[in-house]
Amino acid sequence: MYMKKVKCERLNDQGQGIGYIDNKIIFIPEFLPGDEALVRITKDKKNYMEGVIIDYITLSKDRVKTVCPYLNCGCPLKALNYQKQLEFKQEKLQNIMRKFAGLTDVVTDIIPSKEISYYRNKITLKVKNGIGYYKNGTNDFLPIDGCALAETRINEIIKVLNTLDLSNAKEITIKAMDEVMIIIKGKIDINKLQKYADSIYMDGKLVYGKAFITDSIDDLKFKVGKDSFFQVNNSMISVLYKTAISLATKKGTALDLFCGTGTISLFLSKYFDKVIGIDINEDAIECALENRKINNINNVDFICGDANTLCQDLKADVIFVDPPRSGLSKDGINNILNIKPKEIIYISCDPITLARDLNILKEKYIVEKIIPVDLFPNTYHVENIAVLNLC
Ligand SMILES: C[S@@+](CC[C@H](N)C(=O)[O-])C[C@H]1O[C@@H](n2cnc3c(N)ncnc32)[C@H](O)[C@@H]1O
Repeated sequence: MYMKKVKCERLNDQGQGIGYIDNKIIFIPEFLPGDEALVRITKDKKNYMEGVIIDYITLSKDRVKTVCPYLNCGCPLKALNYQKQLEFKQEKLQNIMRKFAGLTDVVTDIIPSKEISYYRNKITLKVKNGIGYYKNGTNDFLPIDGCALAETRINEIIKVLNTLDLSNAKEITIKAMDEVMIIIKGKIDINKLQKYADSIYMDGKLVYGKAFITDSIDDLKFKVGKDSFFQVNNSMISVLYKTAISLATKKGTALDLFCGTGTISLFLSKYFDKVIGIDINEDAIECALENRKINNINNVDFICGDANTLCQDLKADVIFVDPPRSGLSKDGINNILNIKPKEIIYISCDPITLARDLNILKEKYIVEKIIPVDLFPNTYHVENIAVLNLC
């Protein structure tokens, strides 16, 4: 394929640069607004092209030096100065809400992350020819010797893993909270890993240390299992939860749908007479029940099952929902509308499914505001908190 000089006009929602060649749109990774580069066309379709940079000609004034040496990893925004990253995320959310939910003037200023690098408490690495990631949106494997998103202890473990025979392993997840857990799909000689971990699982079986690890958020302690969800940006977990909780003005009974290990429920226990958390993951509910005990809290109940359907028999003044990226099911939305809570606080890491669900909920609720919270610097992802009041 041929090469062309292209100027980056703006970013798409996935953080790829957008340029034009003879009025046809082209998507280019590692390309920031203001950059000009010599680009090799890798795909030429009827309505769009894709390309890769051969050489930069002019660099954007918004570029910064990156700590990550890799190109096309999971951090398309890492070379963009942080203030511009925040503007990109806020505008993206505004556009999605206008386009898919007909909502304007509801997105507030974004809350920045306290840490921009080395903030993740969990990463999952693929094992192929070494350990690494798939390059953004492709099946191309990128072997790594460190990750500038992952916290220091994870980087130490990556270095050790790179000295081991990984030929019988497929995937390795590392969680570094107050304690460290390594979860291996496949087989590895774990002798050299033990001094870095409190818990090691291999093919689903505990082979070293504790079954659960712990993390602390403010004055609360949490047990976290190998399969349970936990927010990944430790510096921002308490900011996210406290912001969400401060937005609820009503008191009484709260539901925490998709409660994971019970984090939001236990934070809520101080402000509500009664809290009920529901999650489908048994490992997470086992942790939630234990977390209630460790923190000596007795006004919170947990139920294991599908939150979309199990909530239908419950009553609540305020409902907190924090579903996976797929958002709420139709049943879930109908059941919430039937419960008629005075307020809904909807936490979401996927603005598209959030907009889809708000578009239905807004028939009975006023979407007062949506606060973006940057839990994922250098990536195109953003967490959002929507506040809905009964009409
Ligand atoms: C984004 S996480 C939120 C967890 C928790 N609120 C937190 O902050 O740690 C989504 C949670 O939804 C749970 N989940 C997924 N589908 C579910 C369903 N149909 N019913 C209940 N929980 C579900 C997952 O197990 C996961 O714990």
